[in-house]
Amino acid sequence: MLREANHDTIIILDYGSQYSQLIARRLREVNVFCRLYSWRSLPEKVMAHNPKGFILSGGPRSVYDQDAPDLPQYVLESGKPVLGVCYGMQLLAHHLGGHVAASQHREYGPAILDVDQTENPLFTDWKIETASDPGAMPEDQVWMSHGDRVEKLPPGFRPLAHSQNSPLAAAADVQRGLYCVQFHPEVDHTPQGRLLLRNFAFLICGCSGDWTPANFINEQVRYLKEKIGTARVLLGLSGGVDSAVTAALLGKAIGNQLVCVFVNHGLLRKDEENRVVETFRHRSGMQLVTVNAIEEFMESLEGVTDPEQKRRIIGEQFVRVFERESRKLGNIEYLAQGTIYPDVIESASHSGSAAHTIKTHHNVGGLPVEMDFELVEPLRLLFKDEVRLVGSNLGLPDKIVWRQPFPGPGLAIRCLGEVTWDRLNRLKNADSIFIDELEKRQMLSQATQQSFAVLLPVRTVGVMGDRRTYEEVIALRAVTTDDFMTADWARIPYDLLALASNRIVNEVEGVNRVVFDITSKPPGTIEWE
Ligand code: XMP
Repeated sequence: MLREANHDTIIILDYGSQYSQLIARRLREVNVFCRLYSWRSLPEKVMAHNPKGFILSGGPRSVYDQDAPDLPQYVLESGKPVLGVCYGMQLLAHHLGGHVAASQHREYGPAILDVDQTENPLFTDWKIETASDPGAMPEDQVWMSHGDRVEKLPPGFRPLAHSQNSPLAAAADVQRGLYCVQFHPEVDHTPQGRLLLRNFAFLICGCSGDWTPANFINEQVRYLKEKIGTARVLLGLSGGVDSAVTAALLGKAIGNQLVCVFVNHGLLRKDEENRVVETFRHRSGMQLVTVNAIEEFMESLEGVTDPEQKRRIIGEQFVRVFERESRKLGNIEYLAQGTIYPDVIESASHSGSAAHTIKTHHNVGGLPVEMDFELVEPLRLLFKDEVRLVGSNLGLPDKIVWRQPFPGPGLAIRCLGEVTWDRLNRLKNADSIFIDELEKRQMLSQATQQSFAVLLPVRTVGVMGDRRTYEEVIALRAVTTDDFMTADWARIPYDLLALASNRIVNEVEGVNRVVFDITSKPPGTIEWE
């Protein structure tokens, strides 16, 4: 039977913590493969991975809640090592005959960890000295975030560490391979948390660190070759990181059996089409079909000002163009997609898996739902940071691998009001000046995770030379963010803003005013729409 390669695998059971995905990312960062499942997932499904160990995540509940999430029997029966984190610790203790009590007050924030059993493998190489720089985060700080806490350990357990407010901050039953920590090793505020997770995976579970981009690429190439055989695969290339890496990987595996379709809808940033086409034209003999659909998109957007309507029109238009092109190509058996792990995770906080559903138009370039293809999703187990590493390993240029997210409906939602040729060009030119100034000072990726220009549908009075002007306004937006769910405005140096503003007003016809957006998200959003 055709199988994907087996890696040493840790299973993370998700109890609903906001940090569950972070545990997975931390393990992957140290080359340990892991899968995140809801605590309710079917035992057969989980055990099919032949896990080397389990991590029980944190979660918002109390073990005394009426329908509190439980510890599935198969976890302990497997005899594999288990690490309980926060709620996971309370669950282990409660289940095995310890006592969990509601703490007098919720403990939320940093604490200093005193390790009492330094020889325990969980704390191998743990540094006990605090930071020497005043103001720096102490090395032995850990991050607490809990209400209940374990007050009496179950039989067989010994305390490993304490903090001022948590007499039992870490404990273990070494005989049975059961470990628990009250704090969160996965967050950055626990500087040695990565070390602790690494110790659990390598020293306690016996993982070998076989999850590397190079291994992933070799295995996927072998797997894809075998699965696809001599068939042809169609991929909608948007120029975004996920579809670009999917293309590079499939190109390596099946060469010219891969047909990439790049639809230029005219709503791309300046020079974007050239960049994508240049990158992929000569790669591994893959076929690249570029479709110039600018006129049809522009026509369909005529007179439209509502952002949701713009999105819908662009989505429909995309499907139409894509269908037309794939019909022309004929003889295609597979449809490839750049679906990544966060889209398919079956976790406690998301009901069920989104696996094998087709992502909406803005992520994959409008792939038609009703088409009769089998799906190929080679990145579906990767986090975004891993997708980037794989992309770099496949030789994709940094400009593609590290590019900022760009909305599928493109500049249509940054061109507020009607999208006309003139207005679109105005926006493209202003945007490219801002990006250029950020790039010149190496601030594009260091200082901000997303930065762009927005064209506003208002005109204001200005004066240029001796002439009164009445022209449009450009807003510059630059944000810092980890996950794009929340964001802060980037503290761009004033002189850079001054230079960008000056250049935009001088070089971009039809713009006489530039403003900088200083709203965080929430309450604002990143895009203006
Ligand atoms: P907001 O504006 O909601 O954006 O704070 C969060 C992130 O999502 C991107 N975004 C989109 N991406 N299609 C997309 O593919 C869209 O319609 C869309 N709207 C927002 C936005 O650029 C940011 O990274």
